[in-house]
Amino acid sequence: MRITLLDAAQRLSKGDVVAVPTETVYGLAASIKQPNAIRKIFSYKKRPQDNPLIVHIASLKQLRSLIAHLPASFKKIKHLWPGPLTIVFKANRKSVPSIVRAGLGTVAIRFPKHPDFQKLIKRAGPLAAPSANLSGRPSATRYQHVESDFGSDFPILIGSHPKFGIESTVISLSDQGWSYLRSGAISEAKLTKLLGSAQSFKSQTKAARTPGAKYRHYSPTAKLKLHLKPITSNSNIHADAVLGFDDTRTSLPLLSLGKRNAYRSNLSRLYKKLRELDDRQFQFVAVDAHFAEQGLGITLMERLTKAASSVT
Ligand code: TXA
Ligand code: MG
Repeated sequence: MRITLLDAAQRLSKGDVVAVPTETVYGLAASIKQPNAIRKIFSYKKRPQDNPLIVHIASLKQLRSLIAHLPASFKKIKHLWPGPLTIVFKANRKSVPSIVRAGLGTVAIRFPKHPDFQKLIKRAGPLAAPSANLSGRPSATRYQHVESDFGSDFPILIGSHPKFGIESTVISLSDQGWSYLRSGAISEAKLTKLLGSAQSFKSQTKAARTPGAKYRHYSPTAKLKLHLKPITSNSNIHADAVLGFDDTRTSLPLLSLGKRNAYRSNLSRLYKKLRELDDRQFQFVAVDAHFAEQGLGITLMERLTKAASSVT
């Protein structure tokens, strides 16, 4: 059910959860001042309690109230906000409830660019929001995906659908350096150019890494098999369909992610196509994963690998 900005703001202030469009994927939002609403997010999604949520802001003033310390290096990446970058900082424990942080001493913050979501944050205050999908399902990039996971009565803020169609990149930032926690809409290469080389994980505690990474993600029900070598029309493939690109040569039904090596547009179609595989009830799907792993190609390969059960 699609709702207006005013309706969404009222529901949030009453302690309800609403789905929102963002420029990355749809989110399930609640006010950080309403711990009961935050609990509802975890139960609607069937999300493990130890997986913290991203807090979304609409000004740098809000940022200062949520964190304990702003590292000097923030100025090197500040221009990427608003946008698809999430930064993990040391939290101000008083202003960010423990349930949002899953008990960690850090908080993940994103300043989204989507105009309707921004307006809602301006009215309703900082909003905690994970991606609006059942845990383990592909993220939602159309409001119909949200309805398919949470029912057609679920309230969804009206607004244009996500432009990137892939989640934000998550990094952590401190005076000691930065680390790359989750690949996403901004490539690691771009961040390395701005911030210098990242800290290696060896020098970090386990808790500093992103808890979400240990769960199985982005899985359609169909079994996916990645083919790293080119698929040719006479390749011996046992599958009901192929997930590939416009130039993939196959006589099986082809679900195309667009032009090969056009990573941004490939990523923007990925989740829609993964959901379509299930809607069309394909059981075995061959994935044409023959593309250069550079820039956002790394994000594409990472998501395909997580969605797939085996690689050849
Ligand atoms: O694009 C996005 O990031 C979307 C939109 C709605 O903003 N949100 C999203 O949220 O993808 P979610 O919950 O599906 O993924 C957030 C990731 C998880 O892997 C979580 O473990 C990690 O961020 N995360 C959140 N807080 C963290 C923290 N304090 N330290 C480390 N990782 C954190
Ligand atoms: Mg998610």
